[in-house]
Amino acid sequence: MTPEHYHTPEIPTPNFAELNGGHPHEVARSIINDKLIKIADAYNIEVSRERVPDAYVDWDVELAYYRPQTIDLPRGNTSFRKEGDNPDPQDPKMIEGFISLEAPHIYRDYNGAPLNPAGRTGLRGRGILDKWGPTPAADLILLRNNPETGVLETLLINRGDTGELAFPGGKVDPGEDPRQTAFREIIEETGLTSDTELDMSHAVTAYEGYVDDSRNTDNAWMETTAMYLYLTPDVAAGVHFSEEGSSDAVAAAWTAIDQNLPNRMFASHGKILDYILTA
Ligand code: BGC
Repeated sequence: MTPEHYHTPEIPTPNFAELNGGHPHEVARSIINDKLIKIADAYNIEVSRERVPDAYVDWDVELAYYRPQTIDLPRGNTSFRKEGDNPDPQDPKMIEGFISLEAPHIYRDYNGAPLNPAGRTGLRGRGILDKWGPTPAADLILLRNNPETGVLETLLINRGDTGELAFPGGKVDPGEDPRQTAFREIIEETGLTSDTELDMSHAVTAYEGYVDDSRNTDNAWMETTAMYLYLTPDVAAGVHFSEEGSSDAVAAAWTAIDQNLPNRMFASHGKILDYILTA
């Protein structure tokens, strides 16, 4: 991709399997989110994921002895509740349908719980997610060329929860458009201001779908709309933010995009960055 102007080029959006080169989700099968461990610990619950071999991730492949632990501790029902948390009812049958960016139809198990379209994770229930099925998020990928070195950079935050580098982003509030979410979150997490009004209508969707996130379970998972916006030098020069980060972020910085960067990033963010650079 050669970013030449503010009108960031349109690129086709891959689905999760394409983004991952056909590999089944690895983070969701191997990592237990730190916050999930902490909340479960407050209820004296020890969390473990049942190991799901690659060949058995797909729900269509029968796995006779699959008995994963059930953790259903939606954050909004715990003492870790944050403002805006709005947990779904405990019984997934109460939910009429699920709107997923990843799959046109979400199947359910015999209890009515939605089934993760990326397959088994080794954990049942919602974990700490408030919603059954997909939880929508949005991410903003700002790009610029460093004014001194010319190197392509992206504005990243350090996540307070996992300590990893990530695009600014967060969960979509009810009634919100992902574009609004992405813009709101970058302001909340970096204190971003701009001398020239940043026109989000130029932001291009690079990815819409499932995210391989450590909070995911068999029945609840994160999805994101990731948009990128290339800033011309004049616009980029007028962008200011706080290096301390705020809200869910503990630092923010223009970060040089080099070969190692994607490996140091949260959830699927590295894969999305790789994709933008090669699309
Ligand atoms: C994060 C987003 C991320 C999404 C899925 C949200 O909590 O803020 O950056 O894409 O989770 O992992």
